[in-house]
Amino acid sequence: MNEQVVLNLKNFHAHLPAKCGVVRAVNGISLQIARGRVLGLVGESGCGKSITCLSLLGLTRENGWVLTGEAQMQGKNLLALNAEAIRRCRGKEIAIIMQNPMAAFNPLATIGQHFTETIRSHLPLPEKASRDLAIKCLGYVGLPQPEKLMGQYSFQLSGGMLQRVMIAIALAMEPKVLIADEPTTSLDVTVQRQILGQLIHLKEKSRTGMLLVSHDLGVIAQMADDVAVMYCGYIVELAAAERLFNNPLHPYTRALLASKPQMRKKSLQTIGGQAPSLLNLARGCPFFARCSEKNRHCSHYSPELIQYDHRHLVGCAKYAVEQRTLQHGFA
Ligand SMILES: Nc1ncnc2c1ncn2[C@@H]1O[C@H](COP(=O)(O)OP(=O)(O)OP(=O)(O)O)[C@@H](O)[C@H]1O
Ligand SMILES: [Mg+2]
Repeated sequence: MNEQVVLNLKNFHAHLPAKCGVVRAVNGISLQIARGRVLGLVGESGCGKSITCLSLLGLTRENGWVLTGEAQMQGKNLLALNAEAIRRCRGKEIAIIMQNPMAAFNPLATIGQHFTETIRSHLPLPEKASRDLAIKCLGYVGLPQPEKLMGQYSFQLSGGMLQRVMIAIALAMEPKVLIADEPTTSLDVTVQRQILGQLIHLKEKSRTGMLLVSHDLGVIAQMADDVAVMYCGYIVELAAAERLFNNPLHPYTRALLASKPQMRKKSLQTIGGQAPSLLNLARGCPFFARCSEKNRHCSHYSPELIQYDHRHLVGCAKYAVEQRTLQHGFA
């Protein structure tokens, strides 16, 4: 394994047994996050991005999600750690900026208490120094009057402000891995630019490896070194960012990129049809019903990633057939 890889997610499944069946939110994905690099994760709403993010920090278990596979980080499988051990990893080793930040804060603790307790449970800093560090980092993310903010409660702040507090905590902790789940969605563009600048700073200064989830393909293009495309709990394509944007292979990736709003585009393209329900998801390619390029192999094709080219993986029957044909010399 590449020694730069700091988090190695292998064959990860997240399923939730429910009364009427099993919600198959994540179905055997493998991803690697390397030091000082950003892996972008994109895909339609409901495809399993947040469940993947939250599971890496042990935040889905209490809700009954059954997790299988491995998430190897520094010799530990994060998925197999007990609650206390994963709690110790959170913050310094692996941190998260949540899509729904309100859930991350105790409404009975002030921002200052939350921030300094997080710092002091991982760094050997006295009270005053941890408070100073917190105020400095709140200033970095552009929050006005950081000293005053330290005495406020989470319910007094907007979602965008709380996201910035989470980013400030990440800046203070300099984690090895940062999971950023839609970190800039509720922010206006000027603040968004500032936050992205801070994330780049964190990646460069601390060599933090990042998993960056965003619906904003512009943000992904700007930030990510590599991009993974997720659909119905499967990774359907994975490549270096430039390559993926210039030469998308999977019909879903192409449709997703085509639906990106652009200044001079006359009409906005959408992906026809709807993603199938993840409840009792059938076998075969999950994009089958919506795919304009399907062939007779697709309905029973299990969406395994194949190596199309150097560092460009795709999970589509079309390319598997092409490769088999080439291998057998029929091309
Ligand atoms: N508590 C839950 N109970 C049942 N199903 C759930 C629960 N939480 C999530 N799901 C389902 O799991 C799937 C994956 O959800 P997830 O939040 O990971 O999507 P997402 O890709 O992050 O979407 P978005 O882009 O909207 O944030 C969805 O189909 C969702 O309906
Ligand atoms: Mg989400």
